[in-house]
Amino acid sequence: MSGVGGVSGGPPRSVRISGWGSYVPERVLSNADLERIVDTSDEWIRTRTGIRERRVAAPHETTATLGAIAAKRALAVAGLEPDDIDVIVVATLTPDYPMPSTAALVKEAIGNDTAAAFDIGAACSGFVFGYATADSYVRSGLARHVLVIGAELLTRFLDFEDRGTCILFGDGAGAVVLSASDEAGGGMSGLEMTTDPDGAYMIWLPSGGSRSPSSSETTSRGEHFIRMEGRETYRYATRTLAASALKAVEKAGWSPDEIDLVIPHQANVRIIEAVAKGLKLPMDRFFVNIDKYGNTSAASVGIALDEAVAEGRVKPGDKIVFAAFGAGFTSGAIALEWTADPADGARAASVEPVASVRAPLDWNSVDPMPPRLAAVLDDPDGPQVPLDDVVPGEPAHAHSED
Ligand code: UT7
Repeated sequence: MSGVGGVSGGPPRSVRISGWGSYVPERVLSNADLERIVDTSDEWIRTRTGIRERRVAAPHETTATLGAIAAKRALAVAGLEPDDIDVIVVATLTPDYPMPSTAALVKEAIGNDTAAAFDIGAACSGFVFGYATADSYVRSGLARHVLVIGAELLTRFLDFEDRGTCILFGDGAGAVVLSASDEAGGGMSGLEMTTDPDGAYMIWLPSGGSRSPSSSETTSRGEHFIRMEGRETYRYATRTLAASALKAVEKAGWSPDEIDLVIPHQANVRIIEAVAKGLKLPMDRFFVNIDKYGNTSAASVGIALDEAVAEGRVKPGDKIVFAAFGAGFTSGAIALEWTADPADGARAASVEPVASVRAPLDWNSVDPMPPRLAAVLDDPDGPQVPLDDVVPGEPAHAHSED
């Protein structure tokens, strides 16, 4: 018997990462592309954020399909079958639908028949909050293997007329499998999580919830797009991220100089530099890949972990710290000891980057691509988007043919 509570044998001696994986869509959106959509420059984006490019999901992809590919890779690395998983946790702020959960769709896409599946909402801290949730299930003996996925399709929730947000975010997914182990030691030894509702409206998405259900009125006001107070969020992040990481490290009984690698949420390279200063650690102890993917919210720590392992930056016995912050305001950090063989990561290569979720029979879907973005993607060598020609809600493909 599998699923939550179906595990016999009681709590394990430790909870360890047994599998890891990620997926980013193929399509690259460069800063030069964004120069053709909004009033910005490659120089401004690089120097203020560290971002050079980000990925954009194809029209047939959804948050669940991105997450499912990352999940299948993590399963392959762990050497597990889909039905070995007892619980599937998806952290996302860009679910396929408000309901059902994206985790339910991922469960179907990976071919699991047994797991309990649910989403958690902690925005960019979602991977850390999801990891803590998964660790608790395994640690208590309620589950043996839990899949944690951070998956986001942010480019469909961005206002491509708002240069303060649309240059920052990208799409992707990262996943880990946490497993019960009979060996002592390893895994998470320090955890810190905070939520500060004073920051509730610093990053938010106004419509589509009980306070303001979506309507043509809310859409015409652009309330279906992410809004952000950049400077306030920046201040919060630089204050909180280092503090959270320090607390997790203290709880683990380590001193900061013992940390081998910090894998921080990739929101802005300047924020990561400020955290390095706060922890009095050199930048070479931080993993940075924001230049390639921008901010992928709940997916960013999982994607960064997968790349860090592939690049040989993580080895058994290393003291690793995950640290993230995001809307809510939320923040979280995990201090953990790495135990897995990095060479197992090669097994992910056997997983084709393909996943699909069932579409409802009576569904008359719209083109999901934001028109201003699609106009540039469809015509990579063309001139600047003729801004007034792009009608919100109308497929941009029509315009590129004009
Ligand atoms: O996962 C959590 C999500 N969010 C974050 O982590 C965001 C945290 N905040 C940030 O990373 C930074 O605040 C931003 C990157 C968003 C902005 O950088 P900043 O250095 O705080 O810029 P700013 O908002 O103070 O704006 C400086 C100037 C302004 O012009 P004026 O008023 O000085 O003339 C902006 O209008 O830069 C202008 N600006 C831009 N210029 C070119 C803002 N966005 C852009 C842009 N291109 N994309």
